[in-house]
Amino acid sequence: MRTIKKTLTVVLACIMCVCMTVGCSKPIYTPTFTWLHKAYGDYFPIGAAVMPYSLTKYEDILPHFNSITAENSMKWRVTEPNEGEYAYADGDALVAWAKEHNTAVRGHCLLWYKSLPKWVRQKAVDKESALDLIKKHVRDIVTHYGDSIYAWDVVNEALKSTVTVGDIMSGEIYRTGNITDPGSVDWYELTGVEFITTAFGEAAKVRDELGLDFDLYYNDYSLNDPKKREACVMLVNMLRAADIPIDGIGMQAHYRLPSFTKNKQSFLNEFEQSIRTFTELGLDVQITELDICIYASSGDPQVFDGLPYSQECAQAEMYGELFKICRKYAKPFKKGAGKVTGITTWGVADANNAHNSSAHREFPLLFGVDGAPKKAVYSVIDF
Ligand code: GLA
Repeated sequence: MRTIKKTLTVVLACIMCVCMTVGCSKPIYTPTFTWLHKAYGDYFPIGAAVMPYSLTKYEDILPHFNSITAENSMKWRVTEPNEGEYAYADGDALVAWAKEHNTAVRGHCLLWYKSLPKWVRQKAVDKESALDLIKKHVRDIVTHYGDSIYAWDVVNEALKSTVTVGDIMSGEIYRTGNITDPGSVDWYELTGVEFITTAFGEAAKVRDELGLDFDLYYNDYSLNDPKKREACVMLVNMLRAADIPIDGIGMQAHYRLPSFTKNKQSFLNEFEQSIRTFTELGLDVQITELDICIYASSGDPQVFDGLPYSQECAQAEMYGELFKICRKYAKPFKKGAGKVTGITTWGVADANNAHNSSAHREFPLLFGVDGAPKKAVYSVIDF
């Protein structure tokens, strides 16, 4: 027994010495199951939104993903805080990391009504000034990131938050009014739909001029809702009528568990119907900001400090079903149809999700607060 103990100690000491010599003071984590993106090798990339700090904080989990999205680093507010003063360092760091780790980068986002530097609101006073600003910004960013990006969210959230039948009948589907934050601009009020056609048109133009190869996406939330889906189709038709290219739809997919558990089949049918409708138009679909909060609303009182077993199981089931539908559309379902080309979760682990504040724990991602894989991880690779 003593000899065995002695031998073990020597072996352990040797391992530690070797590790310290080659500089791996921390053991490298490998999953007991598989890297997620490897399980999806025959389907599409699996991505996560990241902050610059995520690259070190989540170095053990990030190998699960072969695509990243800059959570904020490529937004206008960050890239040009003052007119003509560019701040690309954060986005550049993500791109450099991605190159080193053989990971693709989604670009998010060229034009949004929010997250703008204040000077843009001051300068965008009429249609001409607004469109000039948009053109310059799109050209600057697309040129700067060049071929590092495989898909750009060209326009984010141009549709009304909630679309009614009346909106569809009247064509009043675009977000406008009540946009008062100093970091926001009511693009529709200033330009009508031209902020959309201009952003897509300019991105396509720069892509051609520079011989780049990224796809152009329209990105929004609640696109599983039938009325908002219809409005999105109208937006696509509007672009096409103006002869402006668009390659795909980003379904953000910020979901809440109770909307699934209340009527699972209906939730999944609508989700699938949106993918079917968009791909039928010949567009690709990416799930761009997936997370599943456990409360019905962010205003609900926080009941749980941890994620209860029953909620974790239901959340895993929902993740599993959504991924299953996406796999079904990883190839065109008919000739001329587009396909699902990626799923990205909005954050890496529960502790860095925008909806998981200390005041309201929502546990919305695949990996837990401690970074451990949740049941959802196992359910999305169970096929
Ligand atoms: C939207 C945006 C994202 C992010 C989230 C916040 O979905 O597209 O960039 O800001 O809101 O959770």
